[in-house]
Amino acid sequence: MTAFQGVSCLVTGGAGFIGSHVAAQLVAAGAQVTILDDLSSGHEHNILELRPHAEFVCGDIRDASLLDRLLPGVELVFHLAALPSVVYSVEHPVESLSVNWQGTLTLAEAARRHGARRLIFSSSCAVYGPRASGALAEDRRPDPASPYATAKIGAEYLLSNFQSLYGFETVCLRYFNVFGPRQDPESPYGAVIPLFVKALLDRRPPVIFGDGNQTRDFVPVEQVAWTNLRAASCPPGTIVNVGNGRQTNLWEILRVLGDALGIALEPRLEPERAGDIRESLADTTRNREVFGVFDGPDLPESLARTALWFAGRLPEHRFVD
Ligand SMILES: NC(=O)c1ccc[n+]([C@@H]2O[C@H](COP(=O)([O-])OP(=O)(O)OC[C@H]3O[C@@H](n4cnc5c(N)ncnc54)[C@H](O)[C@@H]3O)[C@@H](O)[C@H]2O)c1
Repeated sequence: MTAFQGVSCLVTGGAGFIGSHVAAQLVAAGAQVTILDDLSSGHEHNILELRPHAEFVCGDIRDASLLDRLLPGVELVFHLAALPSVVYSVEHPVESLSVNWQGTLTLAEAARRHGARRLIFSSSCAVYGPRASGALAEDRRPDPASPYATAKIGAEYLLSNFQSLYGFETVCLRYFNVFGPRQDPESPYGAVIPLFVKALLDRRPPVIFGDGNQTRDFVPVEQVAWTNLRAASCPPGTIVNVGNGRQTNLWEILRVLGDALGIALEPRLEPERAGDIRESLADTTRNREVFGVFDGPDLPESLARTALWFAGRLPEHRFVD
């Protein structure tokens, strides 16, 4: 019997990449899960195996009357729904703020009114801004440089108000570069790992923008989902990075993925893109203090497993044992 047995949880964005893993881990832990997703970038096939165990509602987090229907009895809200792209937010600032900021406000207010105990928010390392260098600790001054990052840090401030003004518990998780099975390689704003894997599998040269020595702090999605579940019982008001605490450059990523697939292809180098950041690294001291050490596969193994999953050489993750 786990701490989640029978606990009613709402997972917004649960048909998306990370949300589907959060929902899966909750179902496996015995929680009663409702997924709210408008399928704007999520897919029903991400949660097919979950469907007998979780309720799926197709709808918008900004729909207050829908929330009034879904929230009574819900104890925990895992809020992952978002328009998650920085580039998209630059092209569509009003829509980005509407979903990512106003949507969070609408959801938090409804959750509070209906007596939910806690909301766990998916924030982003984008709040630190592109100029930040070195290992980024949570007390680093935010420097949001896009509507996406502004919406995320604005939502964090708002949730901190909900915590201090109303005693509504909130936790903010600042993800670094998440990767793993079900990350969408077809998205026009695709992340580098699924794009590399898809290119390798299609026998096309993967594209590297810039010299490939830019680094990111890549964190496996299983660890991010695990952290979400741990965040249900950490001290309220926690704001914490979710990263590996290790920088990896794009050459190393490509090599590990290629080795796993047994496909070696020279990348095509394209000019650096405007606004691309040079390095990104989480200071994970607070994360380890709050959550302890994630006891899962290390980064190279997670990368290799991800490549094999995309290649169809690993079975679908079993959701429920
Ligand atoms: N992937 C990363 O590396 C990363 C890094 C930092 C933060 N995040 C955050 O993690 C969360 C999940 O991101 P992801 O990578 O899984 O992206 P994703 O696009 O796969 O998931 C987002 C989900 O939200 C849904 N959604 C969008 N607008 C909605 C709305 N108005 N109402 C209901 N559902 C809506 C989408 O359909 C999708 O299923 C997001 O909040 C994102 O900002 C992700």
